[in-house]
Amino acid sequence: MSDDKYSTPDISHLRQEDFERVYEPAEDTFLFLDALAKEHEYIKEKKPSCCVEIGCGSGVCITFLAKMLGPTAAMYWCTDINPLAVLAAKRTAEQNGVTVIPVLTDLVQCLQPRLKNQVDVLLFNPPYVVTPTEEVGSDGIEASWAGGCHGREVMDRLFPLIPDILSPLGIFYLVIIKENNAEEIEDIMKGYGYKMWIILSRRSGPEFLSILKFTR
Ligand SMILES: C[S@@+](CC[C@H](N)C(=O)[O-])C[C@H]1O[C@@H](n2cnc3c(N)ncnc32)[C@H](O)[C@@H]1O
Repeated sequence: MSDDKYSTPDISHLRQEDFERVYEPAEDTFLFLDALAKEHEYIKEKKPSCCVEIGCGSGVCITFLAKMLGPTAAMYWCTDINPLAVLAAKRTAEQNGVTVIPVLTDLVQCLQPRLKNQVDVLLFNPPYVVTPTEEVGSDGIEASWAGGCHGREVMDRLFPLIPDILSPLGIFYLVIIKENNAEEIEDIMKGYGYKMWIILSRRSGPEFLSILKFTR
């Protein structure tokens, strides 16, 4: 790969009107990219062949991972509940010369049977904002942030699926804010046999963001 492997993917093909309906990369996205760059050697050593991002939005994170690891080093998939995000992610991958397979689904629902214990790297920057429960579950732009009770309603549905999705050496990276309660998430994931590390944290306005890593 050229030495631009850590540069933010080009999203100049996306316009302001796209970002009215698809999550525009923001501080959480950029912290996630920084965390992935920091983890590059660690991830590379595991020789991942199947990488998946849940909730791809514009597709910047999975495209960044594909550029960083190399477009031919692995298969790259991404999912979103928002149909326009899936289209945006496809265009972002193409714009940056990598191949990403975008899938419209809830979490990893329609990939689950096929990717059972096959995923080596799993990324999720979920809707983590504390909101009324009624705001959770749309397939529009609100799905980008509406996390319901403790901002955990969407990510909590994923945790029990992790042992079924990840390969034995699989790594799961998750973006959270303080209100999501890292200690409680650590306990839940410990119950499924995973250890947790905090890779990076940063304050961004009212949010205190962290990137968590889970492995067996
Ligand atoms: C905070 S945005 C992150 C977007 C992008 N990954 C980034 O970092 O810029 C959360 C994304 O998750 C998607 N999402 C929300 N609920 C989902 C679900 N149940 N299944 C799949 N994607 C979901 C939203 O549509 C949104 O694109």
